[in-house]
Amino acid sequence: MAATNAGGPVAARADGIWKVYGSGEARVAALRGVSAEFGRARFTAIMGPSGSGKSTLMHCLAGLDTVDEGTVHIGGTEISTLGDKALTRLRRDRIGFIFQQFNLLPTLSAAENIRLPLDIAGRKADPQWWDTVIGTVGLADRLSHRPSQLSGGQQQRVACARALVGRPDVIFADEPTGNLDSRSGAEVLGFLRSSVREHGQTIVMVTHDPVAASYADRVVFLADGSIVDELANPTAETVLDTMKRLDAPSDSVML
Ligand SMILES: Nc1ncnc2c1ncn2[C@@H]1O[C@H](COP(=O)(O)OP(=O)(O)OP(=O)(O)O)[C@@H](O)[C@H]1O
Ligand SMILES: [Mg+2]
Repeated sequence: MAATNAGGPVAARADGIWKVYGSGEARVAALRGVSAEFGRARFTAIMGPSGSGKSTLMHCLAGLDTVDEGTVHIGGTEISTLGDKALTRLRRDRIGFIFQQFNLLPTLSAAENIRLPLDIAGRKADPQWWDTVIGTVGLADRLSHRPSQLSGGQQQRVACARALVGRPDVIFADEPTGNLDSRSGAEVLGFLRSSVREHGQTIVMVTHDPVAASYADRVVFLADGSIVDELANPTAETVLDTMKRLDAPSDSVML
């Protein structure tokens, strides 16, 4: 099935994308003709069993990996045909990333980590937006700390601020709460959601956790490299019900 955005503006789009790793015996089709739209100023979660292709889909959407077939658009730009330089520039200027392992530079302070992508791009942070982001993630009194002096939750808040501060067209987050306890996870999810609701940020987030997915506006379900279902306005219960239904052998679905 194709997951569409019900006619709203689209921040990222995959059309019939295939991604195959290896060849012969080792051949794995990680994505099998995936078509999906991710709405602007929307918070979309991607769920599915381990190995279903979630990270691969996100990497292809974000231009971190190439597709073997099909096309990917970020806004109006088709990225599947861009050269290396243009792709690097697009990733730098228009895309934000949050990873499970935070990916902060250990020798830089929190503030320097947050500013790093802007520094590399030769851009300055908008002072008002900087204050808003730092205030939202609650890091005002931790800005001079190094990552090793921060808790896991605080480190992930630094990573979120780093993604938000450049106001990218889309933020891609791969299990951003996977390494956090439930309270720190809830804090991070809370301000990811408020960045969407209050500031119009677009977020696409991979997660295994039905509670994390319930912060999103919509959930797209992958299985074996294909989109198999989607859910609007999810709650932890409806996400869990959908996961159970998708997990059930097909004959028991008929009962
Ligand atoms: N670089 C690679 N080389 C070979 N196979 C790969 C590579 N990356 C992913 N795969 C395979 O592609 C499939 C999808 O992997 P992917 O990482 O997208 O899954 P996932 O849904 O993110 O899983 P998880 O929930 O465990 O993170 C898996 O079968 C995986 O083994
Ligand atoms: Mg993954």
